[in-house]
Order: sequence, then C-alpha cells, then structure tokens
Amino acid sequence: MSDITQLTTYNNKLIGRPVLNLLTTSSTMDEAKELAQTGAREGLVIVADNQTKGRGRFDREWLALPGQDLTFSILLKPNFKKLHMLNMIISIAIQDMLTRLTEGTVDIKWPNDVLIAGRKISGILVESVLSSANTVDFAVVGIGINLNLDPAVMEGIEDSATSISHIIGKPVDKYEVLDNLLNLIDERYQAVLLGYNPRGDWSSRLSTIGNRIRVSNGSDTIIGKAIGVDSVGNLIIQTEQGTITVTSGDVTVI
Ligand code: BTN
Repeated sequence: MSDITQLTTYNNKLIGRPVLNLLTTSSTMDEAKELAQTGAREGLVIVADNQTKGRGRFDREWLALPGQDLTFSILLKPNFKKLHMLNMIISIAIQDMLTRLTEGTVDIKWPNDVLIAGRKISGILVESVLSSANTVDFAVVGIGINLNLDPAVMEGIEDSATSISHIIGKPVDKYEVLDNLLNLIDERYQAVLLGYNPRGDWSSRLSTIGNRIRVSNGSDTIIGKAIGVDSVGNLIIQTEQGTITVTSGDVTVI
C-alpha cells in the first residue's frame, strides 16, 4: 500500500472518516482536541509522520521514528457509561492486528500496554473532556505503535521496547497497518454502540491477571496478586491487608 490514499476506511461506519495526515505536529492528541473544540465529527483520525512532543501516560515522552512508526489519535464521542470501554476495545483491536501480523503471542498488560516477549510494542492514551460530571464532550484516543524502529538505537527504551519489523525481520507498511487497525476498531466500536460490553473479553486477554505484581502510582506501591478487574476495568489485587482496587498505575510482574 505505502500510500495514504489507498486506505479503505470509507467502508467503515465511523472510524477514519476522514483521516488527516500531518507531516509534523507537537502531538496528535492536541490536534484532535483543537478540532473537536471547533466541532469536528466523531471518527476523525489524525496521523502524524512526526510528533515533536508525543506523550504517553503520566506525561512521559513517547518516542517514535519519524515517518516510520505509527502515531495517531481518534476523536470519539461515547456516552459516559461507555467511556471506560474505549481503552478495552482499542487494546483488543491492537492485539488482534499484531497477532495476525507477527503470528506470535501478544500480551495486554493492564491497563493498556501491548507487549511482545515482555517488550512494549504499543501504547494507548485516552484523554477525555467532560462538560459535566457525567457528560462526555469528547474523548481522544492516542495510539502509538512501533512499526520499524530499531530498539537498539533508541536511547532510553533500548531494553524495554520492540517493533514489528524487529520481530518479523522485514519493514512494515505503515498505511497497511493503519488501515487494518482502523477497520478492527470500527467493528469493535460499532459493537459497543450497539450494546456489546467488552469487559469479559478484555479481562480474559489481560496477561496481568493471576500474577504476583507490584503497582506503582506516584509514591504509592502495592504488592499482591492480580485477581481480576471490576465492571469498569479497575484492577483488583489481593494483598496481605485484603483486597484493593487500583484505578491507575504502572504494573510490574514480580
Ligand atoms: C503510553 O503507553 O503511555 C501511551 C502512549 C501513547 C502515544 C500516542 S502516539 C499518538 C498520540 N499522540 C501522543 O502524543 N500520544 C499518543
């Protein structure tokens, strides 16, 4: 494919209608938010060849190879009761796409890291703007996927990251991956709008469940066994002090 004009998202119900392709931006999250504020429609996708301030969870830097990796955001407008499902369906779609492409095992680490052989290959960032306590104005879902980067030359993530090309041993076509993924996300999002609850599917795919883990959240650390997720996807941990529910944090298997 290797050409954005070949995308098939015009067949989708919502996602990728349209897709905007930018050469460079600070972050596709901010571009999507600005367009949302001026009335952009649900389903808009913004892809950037290069982000000068790509960010991850907890405001960490997101590194990518300009032009070679996939960095994009999707504008969505779910109702409040479905907001927590975005992270679930996106990680499911990424796992399905990567499993097909690499023919190997792809793990989802709670809440939304996608890993292959213990190394991160994709990250998801959901940022939402509410107009009242339980009214969603819009949500922006940011997705970064390492397609062609060589982790060995990426300072800071050389021991913790991997990429599709590194795994399959050949370059990866960015727009083909984007096209497949947007189709899968469109299907899952439609299902959610029609009443599908992805919680069961998602929790059964989480590699975190069943392991002894450490969760760090700022200065707090919790150690225990991950035993499941609650109805909105928070992690339930059995500790020596009893059962604790965690809403966010960094998980390490110990
Ligand atoms: C994480 O793993 O912490 C989430 C990473 C999300 C990165 C993507 S890249 C596209 C979008 N724009 C950003 O600035 N961040 C997200």
